Formats: sequence, C-alpha cells, structure tokens
Amino acid sequence: MKFLLIFLSVMAGCLGLAAYVMRAFPNPPCWCWSRDQGAIVTTVPHPKWNEYASYGSYGTEVDWNNPQRIIPLDYHQAQGKRIFYQQCVWCHSDTTPAGPSNRSNVTPTPPLMNDGAVFNGMSDASLQQAIALGGRATGKSAMMPPYGKSLTKDDIRDLIAYMRAIAAPAYGKSSAKDHGKRKSKPS
Ligand code: HEC
Repeated sequence: MKFLLIFLSVMAGCLGLAAYVMRAFPNPPCWCWSRDQGAIVTTVPHPKWNEYASYGSYGTEVDWNNPQRIIPLDYHQAQGKRIFYQQCVWCHSDTTPAGPSNRSNVTPTPPLMNDGAVFNGMSDASLQQAIALGGRATGKSAMMPPYGKSLTKDDIRDLIAYMRAIAAPAYGKSSAKDHGKRKSKPS
C-alpha cells in the first residue's frame, strides 16, 4: 500500500513537471538529435507556409516553378522522387542542388519532368511504356534510354506518381481512372 502511494505521487509529480515544461515552451518542444549526436531539447522552427507539408507527411518536393510552394508527397511519390534524382534528373531537369544539368546538351531537349503540358495528356500506361521501352522502341529519340530492365514495374509506377504530383499545370484528379482516353487539359 505504502509502495503504491509513493508510486502514484511520483507519477503525479512527473506528469505535473511535464505539463509545466510543455507550457513553458511557446512551441511544443522536440527531443532532437543534434549534429554531435547528443540529445537536445529544442523547439522546431514552424514557418506557416510549410506547416502541413513538413509535419506528418512522408516527403516533400519544392514546386520547380515556385520555390515558396512545398508539395507534400505520399510514400509512392517520394519513392519516385528518389528514383528520379538517381536516374532521370540530368536530362529531365535544369540545374539542381545536386549539380549542373546536362539537359541543354541533349538533342532533342528532353521535356522537364514537371511539364504538365507534355505529360498530363499521356496515360499512366503510355508513360509506363515510354519509360520501360525508351525512345527507340516507341518511335521517339533514342536519347531517351529504356529502363525496363533496370527498374521494376513498381519503380516506374512510383516515378509516374511523382511526375503527376509535381506536374505544372497540375495533373487533373479526375483523370486517374480513364487510362489512355484523357486529353491534356490546362487547369
Ligand atoms: C540521357 C538523357 C535522358 C535520361 C537519363 C532520361 N531521359 Fe527521358 N527523355 C529523354 C529525351 C531526349 C526525351 C525526348 C524524346 C523525344 O521526344 O524524341 C525523353 C522523353 C521522355 C518521356 C516522354 C516520352 C514520350 O513518349 O513522349 C518520358 C515519359 C521520359 N523521358 C521519362 C524519363 C524517366 C522517368 C527517366 C528516368 C528513369 C528518363 N526519362 C531519363 C532523355 C533522357
């Protein structure tokens, strides 16, 4: 009985202390790892514009045309982003934080991967085919390599999900169902 009383009062004390600490911080404190690997308690900077994006979602991409806009990515879109920055970035993007782009040296100039005017009109199935078979097999330039042997179907599906997420103009939501039939529709 005595033990239980001591236990309960220690519990209440801890909870009270925690409540006090939570109040003392203007923002909820975060138990973070610092660079030198010591645990520190600090507050997370909380800029309004990425409030949704950086808390609770899987990943993000900055809108290529508007650095102020952060696009939240779900799991598959974030996988697609990773593969894009490994395989496609040199040809399908201009200069990135990872380094200079080779896009301007490629003929024909590859479309930017966020170019909705080019890709919104293509169905998921035809994008899958274009990426898996490459330019030569699809009647386009052989400068577009085939990825069907180096990437899995799921990898390519994730890439397409990423392309849809970053598309400008935005990829229409209704179109996900009608494979192949959709025409490009500016929004
Ligand atoms: C060596 C440069 C290069 C790389 C790397 C590259 N591409 Fe391309 N890609 C091109 C070129 C050039 C075209 C334009 C082909 C044309 O219009 O004739 C193109 C076109 C495309 C198209 C449009 C095809 C069509 O039928 O209109 C898609 C989709 C595409 N690329 C996706 C990708 C993806 C996804 C990756 C990475 C997995 C990638 N590309 C990597 C050069 C490249």
